[in-house]
Amino acid sequence: MFRTHTCNQLRPEQEGQEATLSGWVHRRRDHGGLIFIDLRDRWGLTQIVFDPNINHQMHELAQTLRNEYVIQVSGRVRLRPAGQENPRLDTGAIELEGHSLKILNAAKTPPFDINKETPVDEAIRLRYRYLDLRRERMQRNIILRHEAVRYIRNFLAGEGFVEIETPILFKTTPEGARDYLVPSRVHPGQFYALPQSPQQLKQLLMIAGYDRYFQIARCFRDEDQRGDRQPEFTQLDMEMSFVERDDVMNLIERLMTGLVENVANKPLLHKPFPRLSYHEAMARFGRDNPDIRFGLELQDVSDIVANSSFKVFSGTVASGGIVKGINATGLGSYSRKQIDDLGDFIKDFGAKGLAWLIVGEKKGRPTVERSSFAKFLSEEETAALIQKLEGNAGDLLLFVADTFEIANESLGRLRLELGSRLGLRDDNVLAFCWVVDFPFLVWNADENRWDPSHHLFTSPMVEDIPLLDSDPGAARGQQYDLVLNGYEVAGGSIRIHQRDLQEKVFELIGLEMEEARHRFGHMLEAFEFGTPPHGGIAPGIDRLVMLLAGEPNIREVIAFPKSQSASDLMAGAPTDVSEQQLKELHIKLR
Ligand code: AMO
Ligand code: AMP
Repeated sequence: MFRTHTCNQLRPEQEGQEATLSGWVHRRRDHGGLIFIDLRDRWGLTQIVFDPNINHQMHELAQTLRNEYVIQVSGRVRLRPAGQENPRLDTGAIELEGHSLKILNAAKTPPFDINKETPVDEAIRLRYRYLDLRRERMQRNIILRHEAVRYIRNFLAGEGFVEIETPILFKTTPEGARDYLVPSRVHPGQFYALPQSPQQLKQLLMIAGYDRYFQIARCFRDEDQRGDRQPEFTQLDMEMSFVERDDVMNLIERLMTGLVENVANKPLLHKPFPRLSYHEAMARFGRDNPDIRFGLELQDVSDIVANSSFKVFSGTVASGGIVKGINATGLGSYSRKQIDDLGDFIKDFGAKGLAWLIVGEKKGRPTVERSSFAKFLSEEETAALIQKLEGNAGDLLLFVADTFEIANESLGRLRLELGSRLGLRDDNVLAFCWVVDFPFLVWNADENRWDPSHHLFTSPMVEDIPLLDSDPGAARGQQYDLVLNGYEVAGGSIRIHQRDLQEKVFELIGLEMEEARHRFGHMLEAFEFGTPPHGGIAPGIDRLVMLLAGEPNIREVIAFPKSQSASDLMAGAPTDVSEQQLKELHIKLR
C-alpha cells in the first residue's frame, strides 16, 4: 500500500496514529539537525520531520532529497510544538514524524519552480507542460474546469437532456473557418473534414426525435490563433426541439447562473442577464460582444457636428460616415504625449485620427480647456458636444470620424483600453448579457455576395422572410449570442427546418444548387422526413472556464493547448510522416 492518507487529510484527531503518505517533495528545510519536508500531492501539503535522534539512517537518507523527488514516508502523527502551527495549511496543526522513507523516483532540477508562482516564459511552460500542470495555479484551473463540466452534465441530465457522441471524422461543417482535413487511405484522393462544430449532427438528432441533446464536444477550426481561440477547443453543444428563442435563452441563463454561483463563487453583476439588440450593442459599446461591467458608453455626435466647419467631422458625415465620442472620465490631466499614444492605439484598428477636448470650468459651467479641434466649432457646437458626453471639468473627450465600422471598432477598443486603465474591469465580477436581433446576412464585399452572419442553418425572423426577396440586408436572424465580460461565450439560433427555406438561403448566399446538394444533400433530404422546429446553442467551455477562473487566455484552462502557431511544443506536433504513410494515403509532397 502506497498510502493511508492523502497529503491533506491528517488532523490533530489522528495524533499518535501511524500513517503512510506518498507524494512530491515540495520543499526541504534543514534546521538544527532536523530535516523538514513539505510533502505535496494534489490535495495539499503535509510537513514531515526527520530527527536523527529517532532514526539516524532515515535522517541521512532525507538529506539526499531534492525538490520534486517522489517519496513514500511512514511514521507517527504528532502535534506541532506550540507556536509552530501553520494556520495557512489545512494540516498545519500536525506533522508526521518520519520513521521510514523510500525514494520512489528521483527528479532532475525542474526548468522552473514548481513550488512558487514565478513568471516563466510560456514556450518553456508548454515544452514541459506536465511540470507546468503540476503547479498549483494550473491544478486549480484544471479542477475548476472539471467541476464546471460536472455541474453542466448534472444540470442538463436533470432537464431531460441526453448526452450523445457524434463523429470526428465527418464532412465539412462550415462555421467560418478553414477545415482540418484527414486523407482517406481506402478512398484515394478523398478526405474527411474534422467538425468545426457538431451543428449538422445535432440537428439530425432532433429529426431523429431525441428532443434534447447535449455533448461536451471537441471542435476543430483552422484559423488565426488569439488568446481566446485554439485550433481545437471544446463546446457545450446542445439542441432542443419545439422551442422558441426565449426557451433556449432562459434555460442557458439558469445554467450559467448556477455555474457562477455554485462553481465559481463569484458575484453576478446583473440578474436577469440584460438583453441588447445588435444595434443597441453597436451604438452604446461599438461591439457586438460588449463588456458591460462599466460605463464609458459611446455617443453618436454626428448630428451635432454635421454642419460644423471642422471638415474632418462634417466631411465624414456628408459622405455617409459617423462621428462618435467617448468621455475618458477624469483623464483631462493626460499630457499631449499620452493623448497621442491613445491616437496611435486606435490607428491599429483603422482609425485615421483621434480628435480630443479637455473639459475645463468657467463660472461653474463646463467649458473647453484645450482641444485639437474646438477652434473650428461654434460655441454652441462645443457646448452641445460636452453636454452629450456629460463632460465635467477634468474629463477628456475623444472623437473618431469614420465609417460606421471603423468608428465603432476603434472607439469600442479604446473604451476597453480606458476601462482597463481606469481599473473598471474587475475579474472578480462577472457580467453576462445577451445580444439578439442580428442582421441575418452580412455583405461580403470581397466576393460580392451575402454571407450568413451566424451560420447556414440559422433561421431568419419569420416576419422578415419576405425581406429576403426585397431587401436581404434588412432581414434579422433568429440568433442569440451570450457575452461575458466582453467575450462571446456562446452562440446559437433557432434553425431552419423546412427544405424550401434552407434552399432559398443557400441560393441567397450564392451556393449553386449542385454544390449545396453535394455538401448538404443529407440535411435537405432529412428535412423532408418530419422535422420538428428546433434550436440550440453552444457555449465555449474554454472561454467560459477562463472567465470563471479569472485567467487572461484560454491556454491557462486547457491541459495541453497549442502554441500561437498551432504547434504542440511538448510532443512536437505537427511533424513529418514517413514515405510509407504518405504512399498509403496517396499523397505526394511538393
Ligand atoms: P460558434 O461558432 O459561435 O457557434 O461557436 C460557439 C462558441 O464556441 C466558442 N469558440 C471558440 N473557443 C475557442 N477557440 C475557438 N477557435 C472558438 N471558436 C468558437 C465561442 C463561441 O461562442 N454550431 C454553432 C452553435 C449553434 O448554433 O448552436 C457554433 O459553433 O465561445
Ligand atoms: P489635423 O487638422 O489633421 O491636424 O487634425 C486635427 C485633429 O483631428 C487631430 O487631433 C487629429 O488627430 C484629428 N483627426 C484627424 N482625422 C480624424 C478622424 N478621422 N477622426 C477623428 N479625429 C481626426
